[in-house]
Amino acid sequence: MLTTRQKVLRRFWYALMPVSHLDDGPKPFRLMGEDIVLWKQADGTPAAVRDRCCHRTAQLSKGTVENGNIVCGYHGWTYDCTGTCVKIPQQPDMQIPAGARVPAYRAQEKYGYVWVALDDPLKPIPHFPEDGAPGYRRIFQFYEEWKTSPLRMMENSFDNSHFSFVHKGNFGLLDQPKPAPYEFRETDYGFEAETLVPIRNPEASFKITGTTEPITHRHLVNRYYLPFSRRFGCSYPASGRDHIIYNCATPIDDDRMMLVQWLYRNDSEAECSTQALIDWDATITAEDRDILEATDYDACIDTTRKVEFHMPSDKPGLVIRKQLLDLLRAHGEEEIHRGNLAQSAAPESLGTPA
Ligand code: FES
Ligand code: CO
Repeated sequence: MLTTRQKVLRRFWYALMPVSHLDDGPKPFRLMGEDIVLWKQADGTPAAVRDRCCHRTAQLSKGTVENGNIVCGYHGWTYDCTGTCVKIPQQPDMQIPAGARVPAYRAQEKYGYVWVALDDPLKPIPHFPEDGAPGYRRIFQFYEEWKTSPLRMMENSFDNSHFSFVHKGNFGLLDQPKPAPYEFRETDYGFEAETLVPIRNPEASFKITGTTEPITHRHLVNRYYLPFSRRFGCSYPASGRDHIIYNCATPIDDDRMMLVQWLYRNDSEAECSTQALIDWDATITAEDRDILEATDYDACIDTTRKVEFHMPSDKPGLVIRKQLLDLLRAHGEEEIHRGNLAQSAAPESLGTPA
């Protein structure tokens, strides 16, 4: 599936960047192949329009913000949040030509990020209940570009069968490659998947897990939100600590995504510092990134085409693919690939997903 080619994906909200990035001026972001400029208006709310001036095509993100409007850095044409040109400095007494405008997009701030929808959104931004809940602190973790597709990142984040390999250096149990199965509940936003996973608990993670047991458990209540957001809802029963990660795999181009990741913890800074939490997850995230950037970004969501083999523990990824395919078809689209997607000989199934 190519994210830039599936039109219905334009009808969702995506987290583009921390709103604080707009404090020192406008910033560019490419969302599904579309170049956008973001800026902060006079009332502090974000605005988003196409990053291309209608005069001589200069990127508006090279410009400045004045009275809440964006001013092109080339000749100063000025646009408001609807993309309408409201000022041409060279001819202050003449009427601005009709149609002097750039396309505008819906933009709003939530959870400390600027979210944008390119076309009329099908659903609101997902509700993340820990945000602002008593006892929880919010920690910004990662904002980095990965050379893979959001679908690859999403399915990896639900895949408990890679721990013993990709994460063998920290929490993965080398001698227990068979993962505990998930209990699935399909929801109106995607699905919820619950499981209890044994993990290694080296000394380096005592403060993260809140326990000194050499092997401990994660109670996971993970959620998938169509199309490319997820909750890693991890609680450590031994200590009662919550480690709730939200990820948005925001599509940049077909082969690139922005990892937007933040965390909620119900302990204090004294119990586990912000830096320790960032450092701990940075190692794990880098391990996932390294292997995902070595996969083919053009993942196939129509599993009847048998391009990849599957095993029972791939069920979350298969449900994600089915829900995405259902979404496309409900909006009259078929899956689009680059060139001729390699078709292997129809493989025998390695088992039916549980
Ligand atoms: Fe933007 Fe001329 S290119 S004002
Ligand atoms: Co991983």
